[in-house]
Amino acid sequence: MKVLVGVTASIAAYKAAEIVSQLVKAQAEVLVVMTKHAISLIGEATFRGLTGNDVRVDLFEPGTRQPVHIDLATSQDVVAIAPATANFIGKVAGGICDDLLSTIVLSTTAPVVIAPAMNEAMYFNPAVQENLAILNRRGFYIVEPESGWLACGKEGKGRLADPKKIVEAIFEAARKTHDLEGRKVVVSGGPTLEPIDDVRFISNRSTGKMAVALAAEAASRSAETVLVTGPIAIAYPYGVKVVEVETSDEMRKELQAEWQDADCLIMAAAVCDFRPRKTHEGKLQRDTGLKLDLEATTDILAELASEKGERIVVGFALETQDEVERGKQKLLSKNLDYVMVNNPLVSGAGFGSETNCGYLIDKHGKVEEIPLMSKRDLARKIIDAVTSDLKARG
Ligand code: CTP
Repeated sequence: MKVLVGVTASIAAYKAAEIVSQLVKAQAEVLVVMTKHAISLIGEATFRGLTGNDVRVDLFEPGTRQPVHIDLATSQDVVAIAPATANFIGKVAGGICDDLLSTIVLSTTAPVVIAPAMNEAMYFNPAVQENLAILNRRGFYIVEPESGWLACGKEGKGRLADPKKIVEAIFEAARKTHDLEGRKVVVSGGPTLEPIDDVRFISNRSTGKMAVALAAEAASRSAETVLVTGPIAIAYPYGVKVVEVETSDEMRKELQAEWQDADCLIMAAAVCDFRPRKTHEGKLQRDTGLKLDLEATTDILAELASEKGERIVVGFALETQDEVERGKQKLLSKNLDYVMVNNPLVSGAGFGSETNCGYLIDKHGKVEEIPLMSKRDLARKIIDAVTSDLKARG
């Protein structure tokens, strides 16, 4: 495994030596890149000695034809920033690349582990918390700092996590990078639009954030990933085939086609349960009045899961009461492997929020309570479960 360890200018920089040493002992090939300020806290010679490789600091090196960062960024299995200062985290969140290390982070497609270390007031500053949330949403592996004695002479949260924990996170990130290689994962997302006339429609408040997080996670683990989505206003993830649809019928047709050779379907779309029986041509005039005659749409999830065989199907369920019981019933009646039940009335779990919580139920009746967490973290949990099931099925 090739690991690039980035060292930034936190007092905890000396602990990077322990991290690098543990990685080398575990047979990783380690290259250290330091920021200029980090050099005043720990010497390059330490890392050169531990890794046997030259330490890189400069963006421009004499005698090289290509910019150094492209080479370094594309040849790694994992990039790990430990310790990561508030400044560095802010730069990465903002897409700034004004030195070698930040340029590498911006240009790598390898998973990136970030281990923050700073004073407690800085760590809890809303700017830092928001920047960490941005990185989490983008799929960075964040190793939370610990509470304890800080270099500023106070107790608090902000101490670099235990080197052992950081090394474990690096190995976990590397392991997951290819664990869906050769698999096809289809994710549905967003709302559907059911037309009343040529300008009006029935829809719902789905924003597609959960589906985008799921597709991003699957793609980052090398799955061939397809996102079939109703109209949403967020950026599509890198490396994902996107199929845009509007109505539930279009979604059904596209999913049927993609499902043929897929290994897993995750139905995160908020498919409208009803649609107008008749769509009026042109625009209905206000003074003609309007009575809507609605009919039920096809339950796409139940239809596709009925022919799933050994493949894995994950559904979502919105329930405002008896969530676990109703979730179990839905899982059984729709022939699912997993159902993620959430209650939109719980704060932080509704449409459009950055977080979710609820219960992840599997077909054996195991219920895992999901505390409030980012949609990306929940996506990771669901994809972890799917991956280990696929592995077990061979
Ligand atoms: N779903 C679907 N096709 C529909 C409606 C829903 O595939 N026409 C899928 C959703 O993508 C979700 C799951 O079914 O994964 C559950 O949706 P939910 O609205 O909670 O439940 P319903 O089965 O529609 O039942 P009800 O609304 O009566 O609770």
